[in-house]
Amino acid sequence: MKIILNAATSIDGKIATINGDTKISSALDLKRVHGLRRESDVILVGISTVINDDPLLTIRYGMNKHDTKNPIRIIIDSKARIPLRSKIVKTANQIETRLVVTSKAPSKNLKKLEERGLKIMMLDQGTEDREVRGEDNGEKVDLKKLFDQLEKEGVSNVLVEGGGEINWSIIKNNLFDEIIITISPLIIGGKKAISLVGGEGYKTINESAKIKLSRIQKKSNGEIILHYKNIKK
Ligand SMILES: NC(=O)c1ccc[n+]([C@@H]2O[C@H](COP(=O)([O-])OP(=O)(O)OC[C@H]3O[C@@H](n4cnc5c(N)ncnc54)[C@H](OP(=O)(O)O)[C@@H]3O)[C@@H](O)[C@H]2O)c1
Repeated sequence: MKIILNAATSIDGKIATINGDTKISSALDLKRVHGLRRESDVILVGISTVINDDPLLTIRYGMNKHDTKNPIRIIIDSKARIPLRSKIVKTANQIETRLVVTSKAPSKNLKKLEERGLKIMMLDQGTEDREVRGEDNGEKVDLKKLFDQLEKEGVSNVLVEGGGEINWSIIKNNLFDEIIITISPLIIGGKKAISLVGGEGYKTINESAKIKLSRIQKKSNGEIILHYKNIKK
């Protein structure tokens, strides 16, 4: 199973402004992302991305008459916080949507979401796992278990579309195969503005994730698209 992480950043590595504005890349780049979605079985994002952006996570550009369905949408949301008024929830009856929660999720939220068509997956991280991985910031969804399960179901391509916390968990647990970054000619700044990768971060360069640059695309609007491969997977 191939896991691609895609994001758009400013030259200072931000994926949103301090106010949560994320219109970083061009319409042309958005079309490229929708092309990637077309090749994916699953699109995965973290709950804060859903709360901030209210995305639909469907294929809206480049859909041809042979495309019959959208990829499965997977939202990582330990406590089932996804708003009932979100576009994802409102369309869950038409597009397969899974909410991956932990046992911390209130059962009344789960019931309401199931009634609206979301499929619930409960994947707790064991305490031992959290200690081994050095994750002491509360109970989160176990992404490794999730990917193992998706692979068993026959999923071939997963597209991860952020945000920074999800990106960190995926990179830290060495779960990705490729990273594709569009760098827009913008400088966003702000200590609190979200970066491409959040989490605790590596303490030394020696520990950092090692990737290999495999392709560079330069667009006439000044955007650069960088493709990297994970050399440790
Ligand atoms: N420019 C781009 O390409 C791009 C793409 C996507 C998003 N964004 C921006 O990124 C921002 C959101 O990023 P974010 O870093 O705040 O949040 P995020 O990665 O979207 O979501 C993080 C949340 O997911 C939940 N979670 C559950 N299990 C997890 C696990 N194992 N690892 C990590 N998170 C887990 C946690 O909330 P619970 O504890 O409640 O479960 C966590 O706080 C938004 O502003 C969005 O617009 C930009």
